[in-house]
Amino acid sequence: MAAGIDDIAVYVPRLYLDADDFARLRGVDATKLRRGLGVHQMAIADSNQDPACLAANACLRIMRKNGLEPSDVGRLYVATESSFDESKAMNAYVVGMLEQAYGSGAFEHCGGVETKFACVSGSYALYDNANWIRAGEAEGQGALVVVSDIAKYDMGSSGEMTQGAGAVAMLLNDRPRLLAFDPRVAATSIRDEYDFYRPFGKETPIVHGQYSNLLYLIQVRKALEAYKKKALASGLIRLDAGPGADDSILDHIDHLNMHLPYSNMGRKALAYLVRHEWRGLPRWKKVIEEAGMDEPEPNDPRGTIESVLADGDFMRKDHEFQRRLTATSRFREVYESKLASSLIASSMVGNLYTASLYLGFRSTLEFEHAKGADLAGRRFGFGSYGSGSSAMVFSGVIQEEYAETVNRMKLEEEIGPRTRLSVEQYVQIHENRLSPEQAVLPPKEFVLVGVDSSPESRGERRYSYGG
Ligand code: COA
Repeated sequence: MAAGIDDIAVYVPRLYLDADDFARLRGVDATKLRRGLGVHQMAIADSNQDPACLAANACLRIMRKNGLEPSDVGRLYVATESSFDESKAMNAYVVGMLEQAYGSGAFEHCGGVETKFACVSGSYALYDNANWIRAGEAEGQGALVVVSDIAKYDMGSSGEMTQGAGAVAMLLNDRPRLLAFDPRVAATSIRDEYDFYRPFGKETPIVHGQYSNLLYLIQVRKALEAYKKKALASGLIRLDAGPGADDSILDHIDHLNMHLPYSNMGRKALAYLVRHEWRGLPRWKKVIEEAGMDEPEPNDPRGTIESVLADGDFMRKDHEFQRRLTATSRFREVYESKLASSLIASSMVGNLYTASLYLGFRSTLEFEHAKGADLAGRRFGFGSYGSGSSAMVFSGVIQEEYAETVNRMKLEEEIGPRTRLSVEQYVQIHENRLSPEQAVLPPKEFVLVGVDSSPESRGERRYSYGG
């Protein structure tokens, strides 16, 4: 039985911090954000928004857009890493809000959990729900998988320039209009790590930025290796292995969507995968000739992440090699045709943690379609990464009737008019100095009304629908 993504809706807070304002506030070069990281604007959640409201707003959008009734939805999963309760699952809050719109008890039948594994948990949630459908348990119903996060880092930390907020709701079913998942190829890699984590009670993560960058690349490459084995074993992809063959698994994936903690991480990831996939192929000789430099080797033979990062001489040479590789005509062609469209939305919105991969997917659909590309039958690959750490690589094929759904995707309209925060307002919001009733914007859609602080009901949250 087929299973896949039928439609996608996005909810992004209407406040944003501009890269120039951030740069002035922190005394950094705005070009580092705009060109170095690909960050132009970062969506910021208002003081009356939490990840549950963002998720509920995305759910309401996808339901209204598709004329869905609660009885059409058999499961509701929320994947997040900005959870605010150690026990109560975020999907319960979302059900509570949706029932304000659809009536008390309307979602009583709808099972689901909150999933957690940093930014990769949405992909595990998609996989589990796709299997629920494949197993024939859905009985004609769909599953809503919502990925929702507020990416907030410590003031003055290097992560602060890669913040953002938003939610993506995906409707999964057995007759998907957008993308059908390829069966038996989803592949994972996992390892106990401390690249990025958020201990109990801490609002912001502890981050080892450069370590997490490199670990992301290594883990996704391992998951891609595992995907390759499965894709070849199942016959989904056949590689030309004859003498002089110049065929790579990446040649069989038409569009790539990578986890995007910041927009330029997509290009970094593509460059890393290309290096590893092309190195043993005849084409590599031409690429090296055009780059005008051999690929450097680490000086320290241990090859651990720590030893690589501490090897200043290698890191400088490797950085230069990557710069030259990404400037070659062969790389640029792959970048433009497979990846560039997925990065556009991230530059406008910033980091959405769990949702960033799926905002990227949505970005590819919208901006490739706007370019006039015919996506029907094209294979989309997904490179998902979550700190701590695990990666998942999977793929799917765009369906014949996709264009009707994609025609209605207009990211700017969906976000709506945005308000540029002053740096003073940004600092007030970041330091939690504003209560929900002091929100910058008037209440619209689902908002947080308050959090109880009495001893017997501490932490209880109330939400309302602001129209
Ligand atoms: N003009 C243009 N580009 C500039 C620049 C300037 N003035 N200054 C720096 N840059 C470039 C750098 O060359 C680098 O590009 P490269 O990656 O292609 O080499 C990029 O901007 C970032 O600079 P860098 O010095 O690496 O930034 P940083 O160490 O201060 O922070 C992160 C970058 C990603 C490590 C940091 O934002 C972070 O910790 N983020 C949170 C964790 C994260 O996102 N991890 C990713 C995996 S999940």
